[in-house]
Amino acid sequence: MTEYSGRNAELDLVLTEAHARYVEANPASRVLHETAARSLPGGNTRTVLFFDPYPLTFVRGAGQFLKDADGHEYLDFLGEYTAGLFGHSHPTIRTALDTALDGGISLGGHNRMEAEFSALVVERFPSIDLVRFTNSGTEANLMALSTARAVTGRNQIMVIDGGYHGGVLYFAGGGSPINVPFDFLLAPYNNTAATLELMTRAGDDLAAVILEPMLGSGGCIPADPDYLRALRQATRDNGSLLIFDEVMTSRLAPGGLQERVDVMPDLTTLGKYIGGGMSFGAFGGRAELMARFDPRRPDAFPHAGTFNNNVLTMTAGCAVLRDIYTPQVAEDFNRRGDALRQRLNAVVEAQGVNLQFTGLGSMMTLHPHRHPVRCPADAKLGAPGLIELFFFDLLEAGIYMARRGMINLSLPHTNSDCDQLVEAVEEFCINRRSLLLDDAPSA
Ligand SMILES: Cc1ncc(COP(=O)(O)O)c(C=O)c1O
Repeated sequence: MTEYSGRNAELDLVLTEAHARYVEANPASRVLHETAARSLPGGNTRTVLFFDPYPLTFVRGAGQFLKDADGHEYLDFLGEYTAGLFGHSHPTIRTALDTALDGGISLGGHNRMEAEFSALVVERFPSIDLVRFTNSGTEANLMALSTARAVTGRNQIMVIDGGYHGGVLYFAGGGSPINVPFDFLLAPYNNTAATLELMTRAGDDLAAVILEPMLGSGGCIPADPDYLRALRQATRDNGSLLIFDEVMTSRLAPGGLQERVDVMPDLTTLGKYIGGGMSFGAFGGRAELMARFDPRRPDAFPHAGTFNNNVLTMTAGCAVLRDIYTPQVAEDFNRRGDALRQRLNAVVEAQGVNLQFTGLGSMMTLHPHRHPVRCPADAKLGAPGLIELFFFDLLEAGIYMARRGMINLSLPHTNSDCDQLVEAVEEFCINRRSLLLDDAPSA
């Protein structure tokens, strides 16, 4: 305990210094934050973007770079929490959007792009026979869960303790008081025996099991393929639906992570990058499930949404799946991501420090310890202040990433951008060595 408090005191001190340098370097962001706080609670309308002492305000993005209100330029290794896969202002997306604007938006009827976009989605994701669009990943998951309850006539939904499926489907750190009031069962990730036992207890009241095949926000923790296979079999056996939330992970292989691990869910949800940076979500799956939304049927489920087929998203989505993120590009890109993560892990290993990067392909997260990371509880080990320090040190090195340790590769990143990240990680290991040598205390 004495040893830990000694180390934490050192960490507290360097963090206080890092905050002071940040405040000194970012007066314009501070003013903008204070102005925003007059009309937005805490100056914020998207919780994940907030950090102490106040967040940066960006004024421009171009390619793989961001510029903040104080004129600093950053190499963007956040990539809008996986939605910014193309960097900022990708020329093909820009052209597609210009074309869409020329044809008029908010048409109040079917447009040609929704059929083209849906065909591309169906062609791309093996478990999706039919798809419907929404405006966000949250909405896609709400629709998938409600669909599962309506088709099965059952009540309970099994989720992963520590999973994240949207603003009202938040299961990390004890959940959220504003979660939708479904009857949720919390399953322990990657623990097949305990999860199957919970499923058995739920019996024929279980409508669906929903999970990310790799926890994204929860720390880039891949699911064991055997765990996914067991869930596939068990949901089949008890008549519930298996839903993969691939809002983030669909970028990890041409047909999503489901294709990479070869486990096919009944329903899949999509979001983030597929809309080319426009608001986007989708849910889709087996034909007989999705056919329940066919309005030609007398018993059709209604599914409204003013912007579900909005021309900008439909057009940008076509450009993404048809012209930019082709299967070959997806393969090569994620291979580059795997190589980057291996390089970063080689650096921290060579330095002998207690850090590691987990993830798959183009998505990764830094953890401040060397224990195996198989579940959200493992992601909580180590001193969280070390990730905060890493974030501020990387900002000073001109690299922007998620405050919680997530790093995402984007298409415009060059080899020299990756070198810059690797060098910044090495410098962090060298400069902060005394804080990184022994195992930090558990959270
Ligand atoms: C796995 C997962 N599901 C759903 C969502 C929610 O998507 P959106 O922010 O578009 O509502 C997110 C967002 O981060 C996510 O990571």
